[in-house]
Amino acid sequence: MNHIIDTINRRTSLRHYKETPINEEHLDILLHSAMRAPTAGNMMLYSILVINDQATKDTLSKTCDNQPFIAKAPLVLVFLADIQRWFDYYRISGVEEFSARKGLDFKGPDLGDLFISVSDALIAAQNVVIAAESLGIGSCYIGDIMENYETHQRLFELPEFAFPVGMLCLGYYPDGYEPKVRSRFEREYVVFQEKYRTLSEAELKEMFAEKEATFPRTNKYGAENAAQFNFARKQGAEFAKEMHRSIRKAMENWQGRQL
Ligand SMILES: Cc1cc2nc3c(=O)[nH]c(=O)nc-3n(C[C@H](O)[C@H](O)[C@H](O)COP(=O)(O)O)c2cc1C
Repeated sequence: MNHIIDTINRRTSLRHYKETPINEEHLDILLHSAMRAPTAGNMMLYSILVINDQATKDTLSKTCDNQPFIAKAPLVLVFLADIQRWFDYYRISGVEEFSARKGLDFKGPDLGDLFISVSDALIAAQNVVIAAESLGIGSCYIGDIMENYETHQRLFELPEFAFPVGMLCLGYYPDGYEPKVRSRFEREYVVFQEKYRTLSEAELKEMFAEKEATFPRTNKYGAENAAQFNFARKQGAEFAKEMHRSIRKAMENWQGRQL
């Protein structure tokens, strides 16, 4: 099979790693791959923090919803949606005065800037995931990096227009590791031709049948079906509340205010 498709098929989220550090050549390839990713307007609206420091990893393993494997990852990369550099460049280049002269509306970053820079950051991250896999390096995204914004802002000394939107734990596969490929929903429920299609109740039941058959019937939430179980674990959970709070706090900076 085509090498890239083979790599995509083999990838699963890896949550335990060989202790071996990522070698310099491989790290260089990973960072190069990130920076060759498509980027809106070729503006590179992201930054990448390379985390090797054990104390920082230990902190992240707690601040990212208590996930101990983060502390054991040989390499952690934090992806920031970052428009700070462009606005700093605008500031030193007389863009505000220019805008006033030309009748342009000069304000701080707004939600459009946020969404584009989030896209940039995550597209760069996914290039790292695929490149890593092709080198025998497994990875796992950590969405919980979006929690505890104030703590992460201090930890990484972030300016106001750089928001940590994704994190990757990376490490070589342990010897003899057997990846567990997790199923996906059937394509017909996810890919539509030309127009969106809202799924009927019968289709929803069909779509979620596998989850319904496999969720743990005895569970700590008292959930009676897979929907209740999933909601209790995800959208209804404490970490989700913290994530919403944290993002709202960070987004105060991205509301198009006057600079
Ligand atoms: C945006 C995003 C956030 C994620 N956050 C976490 C996380 O905090 N902890 C974790 O163990 N896995 C996390 N994952 C990994 C998913 O749980 C995983 O991709 C999913 O269960 C499918 O499994 P697979 O990647 O092995 O196919 C995240 C994945 C994505 C794309």
